[in-house]
Amino acid sequence: MINNVITARIPEVFAPLLTSHYRIKLYYGGRGGGKSYAFADSLLIKGRMSKLLIACLREVQDSIKDSVYRLLCERISFYHLVDYEIRENKIINRLTGSEFIFKGLRDTDIQKIKSLEGVDIAWIEEGQSISQKSWDILAPTIRKEGSEIWISMNRENENDPLWTMLAAHPDERTFVAKVNYYDNPFCPEELKLQAQKCQKERPDDYLHIWLGQPRKSGSMQLIYPAMVRRAFEPKNILPVSPLVIGLDIARFGDDRTVFCLRQGRICHKFITFTHQDIVSIADYCQVMIRDYKPAKVFLDAGGIGAGVYDILASRGLRRVVRAVNFGSRAIAEDRYCNRRAEMWDNARDWLSSELEVQLVPNEELLNELCSVNKAYDSKGRLLLESKDEIKKRLGRSPDLADAFVLTFAEPVCEQAPPPPVCSIEKLFSDDHSGGKW
Ligand SMILES: Nc1ncnc2c1ncn2[C@@H]1O[C@H](COP(=O)(O)OP(=O)(O)O)[C@@H](O)[C@H]1O
Ligand SMILES: [Mg+2]
Repeated sequence: MINNVITARIPEVFAPLLTSHYRIKLYYGGRGGGKSYAFADSLLIKGRMSKLLIACLREVQDSIKDSVYRLLCERISFYHLVDYEIRENKIINRLTGSEFIFKGLRDTDIQKIKSLEGVDIAWIEEGQSISQKSWDILAPTIRKEGSEIWISMNRENENDPLWTMLAAHPDERTFVAKVNYYDNPFCPEELKLQAQKCQKERPDDYLHIWLGQPRKSGSMQLIYPAMVRRAFEPKNILPVSPLVIGLDIARFGDDRTVFCLRQGRICHKFITFTHQDIVSIADYCQVMIRDYKPAKVFLDAGGIGAGVYDILASRGLRRVVRAVNFGSRAIAEDRYCNRRAEMWDNARDWLSSELEVQLVPNEELLNELCSVNKAYDSKGRLLLESKDEIKKRLGRSPDLADAFVLTFAEPVCEQAPPPPVCSIEKLFSDDHSGGKW
């Protein structure tokens, strides 16, 4: 029987998925432990044995492609499970009537979460990313008699909400097991080689990525030099997105005022000068808006920035100029302690994107971007070390980097007409630096 064939391919450590009943089954560990495969195979077997509603959940799911949908499809095809029918948004078993559905918790409204009330098994993938808020809504919703919650995760930090609540002190209804790549009899040679290379070259990362240990809090770099250098390499990317300007305004005598110009995946230019008075900065910003028609200018509203904003607003530029307070609440409040952490993390995402990105090469910028360490608060939200700490280490304020991260303050409508490319070219040919304008 095919179920026996599949069961024979599920490593021993995962046997409780099929053989025991627990309210929570949580497997954690590093990459390659076989968690995703074992969960997928076990659920496919279960779905063939009786009629089950199975919800595959993660914190964020922008598209079904982010989910385990594809893995399940691959396993169905691998085992030739013709009783499963793959639909656009779900997978059903024609014989038992079982259904697999796929949802992201963060963006799902309460009404949709209610549709999970009949779920028999919820599989939470990437459990380390689940926020306290998502869990608080989900846990009481999975309420059907005998229902189970299966969690696969690689611990991110000491305070991952699910870890703290479920695994740190498991009760009798909770099963917890650790599994790493060396426990997985099917771990491909290639993955083992990658693990060995990582162990040699980046021992701290090895402990987290491959051995499933939480990252050490307090001493973690947010952005690595390799990410920035990759963005420095010359590429041919067409500027098709609207222009966004980040404006970091000098706070104290020794800081500079910096404009950063970014168009989607290309960050064109930094313009730096040392003028300190708010009227000069506002004048210059106004000229930039007139000539280059940015979709948005995000300016640092701390210190004298508030004054610059007031002047620009009084000149009718409120629609283009946005004042950003680094210390204010983040847009994704459940993930970030404040706007500053959110913007820096968005910039990190941009730099580590699979798509090519282009950053104007500048060693000072590299040092600044890599100078920031991250930590997490008790709710597992990202937090950056204070600017004073960074200043001490760097010997100056990370003005270039701050101007750059300001361009990520808010998403800018991609449908807006792109500014004429020639205006950027013209900007390149003018000498705006040193405040000689
Ligand atoms: N039952 C299995 N049969 C074949 N290959 C497997 C099986 N389980 C795991 N693997 C292999 O091991 C790799 C890692 O497994 P995966 O489930 O992705 O680990 P994890 O989710 O713990 O990172 C997979 O890419 C696959 O090549
Ligand atoms: Mg996995």
